Amino acid sequence: MATQTQRAPVTETPALSALQRKDAWWVGPLTFFIVFTAFAIWATFRAFQNDYYNTYDLGPLYLSPFYSPTLKRGLKIAGFAISPALIILPFPLSFRLSCYYYRKAIYRAYFADPLACAVTEPKPLERSRYKRYMGERAFPFIVQNFHRFAFYAAVVFIIILWKDTIEAFFIRENGATHFGIGLGSLIFLANILLLSCYTFSCHSWRHLIGGNVDCYSCSLANRTKHGLWQKVSFLNERHGLWAMMSLVSVALTDVYVWLVASRYITDLRLF
Ligand code: FES
Repeated sequence: MATQTQRAPVTETPALSALQRKDAWWVGPLTFFIVFTAFAIWATFRAFQNDYYNTYDLGPLYLSPFYSPTLKRGLKIAGFAISPALIILPFPLSFRLSCYYYRKAIYRAYFADPLACAVTEPKPLERSRYKRYMGERAFPFIVQNFHRFAFYAAVVFIIILWKDTIEAFFIRENGATHFGIGLGSLIFLANILLLSCYTFSCHSWRHLIGGNVDCYSCSLANRTKHGLWQKVSFLNERHGLWAMMSLVSVALTDVYVWLVASRYITDLRLF
């Protein structure tokens, strides 16, 4: 007996324009573009300025995060004087640039690839990219797979910046060092808290804490691991927020040190 094949009803592919979102999807990429570009310009200026990065001569023990840890002054490479920030900044920068959140944000804001979920890319870009699209499997983007190692370096920097923050609660007066709180101390504290939230909400850290386990309930050690993983997951769910807030806070901390060190303002002493 002949059987009749039932054809699935032909569904029309919706026009791409119909997939376009009607909400303000562009606010996120545009905001990121403005904030990150401003940060890059400021950080580049400060890295090359090689001055006004601590306030040790003025009393408060503030050291700009761009110049921490303190390296020998007058560094030279191949006979050329070099700013310590140029040696320091590649470490935190490689951590941020290989971060999963920044990767997404940079692809969207700078490469329009894609602009946002369910938003079609500009046609000429779309056509040219399809031919040679390699994603993160080829140079240069494949380098980002080193993120875990950048995380290890970032942890070392967090320890150093916590030390700087404790020192920011001290002031040197008349040859003696004593406890004291200035506006800068509070800015340093806010900055290190945000940086710690950003660093320890990292996906690599979450995997280190909770990964590689088949059964969370099988032993006390694994149950403890699960508890820690849940706490890290709480931070991790807000990773993008910490990423942006810590980017702004680290820049503001440096701006504050620069303003005080160059005597544009005086540190506001609270205690
Ligand atoms: Fe963002 Fe690791 S994923 S810092």
